Amino acid sequence: MRVGLLTGGGDCPGLNAVLRGFVLHHAQGGGTSVGFLRGWKGVLEGLVRPLAPADVEELWNVGGTVLGTSRTNPLKAEGGLEAIRATWQKERLDALVAIGGDDTLGVATKLAAAGLAVVGVPKTIDNDLSGTDYTFGFDTAINICAEALDRLHTTARSHGRTFVVEVMGRQAGWIGAYAGLAGGAHVTLLPEFPIDLGAVCAVVERRRQAGGPGYTIIVVSEGATLDDGDEVTVSKEVDAFGHARLGGVGERLAARIQAKTGVEIRSTVLGHVQRGGPPSAYDRVLATRFGVRAADLVAKKEFGVMVALRGTGLVSVPLAEATGTLKQVPRSFYDMIQGVSG
Ligand code: F6P
Repeated sequence: MRVGLLTGGGDCPGLNAVLRGFVLHHAQGGGTSVGFLRGWKGVLEGLVRPLAPADVEELWNVGGTVLGTSRTNPLKAEGGLEAIRATWQKERLDALVAIGGDDTLGVATKLAAAGLAVVGVPKTIDNDLSGTDYTFGFDTAINICAEALDRLHTTARSHGRTFVVEVMGRQAGWIGAYAGLAGGAHVTLLPEFPIDLGAVCAVVERRRQAGGPGYTIIVVSEGATLDDGDEVTVSKEVDAFGHARLGGVGERLAARIQAKTGVEIRSTVLGHVQRGGPPSAYDRVLATRFGVRAADLVAKKEFGVMVALRGTGLVSVPLAEATGTLKQVPRSFYDMIQGVSG
């Protein structure tokens, strides 16, 4: 079987390990793999490269994606579906494996409904896909956040300073929640729960007056909202899937706390450092398992499904069920975080 692969949306540590897992296992069964460059853009425009075992065997620990990525929505382009069908025929594809988050897999869902032989592999550092317990990239991201927080604690403690640390997480605060827990944050603020500025300032004041080093570490997800209820964006311009570029809530929050308490605040944005570099060992393994399972699904001609992790085992779930609903941090988990905060 001749199978095309693509990586779409924001890059994510472990994408190359999925490609490696798929290509090596598919080749063992006698199959051929090709890669589309820059996500759905490559399928639209027929940008293809060979993906032989020799091209991927060294990729188990390489961050980013050797195929490149983009936020192209091919179904928004004029004649998008016809262009995809034309590429499919020209490349003599038997199947397509789309590796991406909700947007990329949303397109895969529509293509599967249109009769194309598609398999999905879930990816996002945000871990917000409802069909799978975990996505690769998340573990790497929270380890980077935890290390950054460990470092910020020592400088904050030395100066008796308060730090606001902005982490990724658009509508789901899993990175913030896990980073806050793993990194000993005193306050954790997530998109799911509007920020109560008075409560945050009360923690800062209490810790300042407690007699110890008097410092506070506040983790805030980029998508968390202040009392005005708006996401803080770098610009209002949206991408092909309707998302504005978030960023700046940490800085804005720091200014508000400083104005209310008079405490000197520093803010740090971890940004794309959370997404770059080599995947953690956990993510290498999960990504490889996803790639191998996707090859098995293609061999069995089980299409219109996404590979997913449930507990410690892999399952396949219909693409239509796996996309469209966001997995957010529930109140009970947030309440548990409060049990070790303040
Ligand atoms: O979806 C993953 C993610 O990292 C989000 O947390 C973040 O809002 C977004 O991607 C950033 O995207 P970009 O790389 O386009 O700035």
